[in-house]
Amino acid sequence: MKVLFVGDVTARPGQRVLARHLPDIRGEYDWVIVNGENAAAGKGLDRKSYRLIREAGADLVTLGNHAWDKKQVYELIETEPIIRAANYPPGTPGRGWWVLERGGFRLLVVQVMGRVYMEPLDDPFRTVDRILEEVPHDAAIVEIHAEATSEKYALGFYLDGRVAAVLGTHTHIPTLDAGFLPKGTAIQADVGMTGTYRSIIGGEVESFLGRFLTGRPHPFRSAEGPARFVATELVFEGARVRAISPYQWEEPWRGEGIE
Ligand SMILES: [Fe+2]
Repeated sequence: MKVLFVGDVTARPGQRVLARHLPDIRGEYDWVIVNGENAAAGKGLDRKSYRLIREAGADLVTLGNHAWDKKQVYELIETEPIIRAANYPPGTPGRGWWVLERGGFRLLVVQVMGRVYMEPLDDPFRTVDRILEEVPHDAAIVEIHAEATSEKYALGFYLDGRVAAVLGTHTHIPTLDAGFLPKGTAIQADVGMTGTYRSIIGGEVESFLGRFLTGRPHPFRSAEGPARFVATELVFEGARVRAISPYQWEEPWRGEGIE
């Protein structure tokens, strides 16, 4: 069993490289999970970006702190295979977990959001405990959408031996730590961004830099440039991950303004 987890698809470059590359490799995987919280113009998920992600080959789309930025998500999340963080308060639209099923094998995918330098939500640790207990499954992947690597590793060690993998998202910069915790859970602090790295986490350099130089808010504009498809591959053996490998593919780039 092979699963590909694609890091935060961001704005037009992210959409473009996903549509260009995922169909070529889709056949190698049993399931493809895509974080799409920044897919629409860099923030949120709308109908058009959701369609593009699904047509490229995703089985499940996950969100994050920008989950609610586009109004269309409220409708999509009721009917489509989309999850938002499970530790939003009770009564939040949509759901925080999903079970992918094939040949009797049930892969539970849960997303939680961290609380360090993020909007405070319910306890992500106990939220995962509850879901693991309540939802029948054969293996589980937990995505932690969070800023702090410390919090991501704290959750990893908390779940070590109980879930197949803990994968971080949100910072948009892939980390080089993909490996295993002592009891066998695979971990990576951040899968990274599918989008252009000629940017500041997907945003146009000038607009982002302005915030740092002036201390005042600047309008967000998403960047354009050569895009990278960034993901993490998980090879399963039964309920456990046998191999975890970061995966990258960079689109051929012919110059500014040419797509
Ligand atoms: Fe995020």
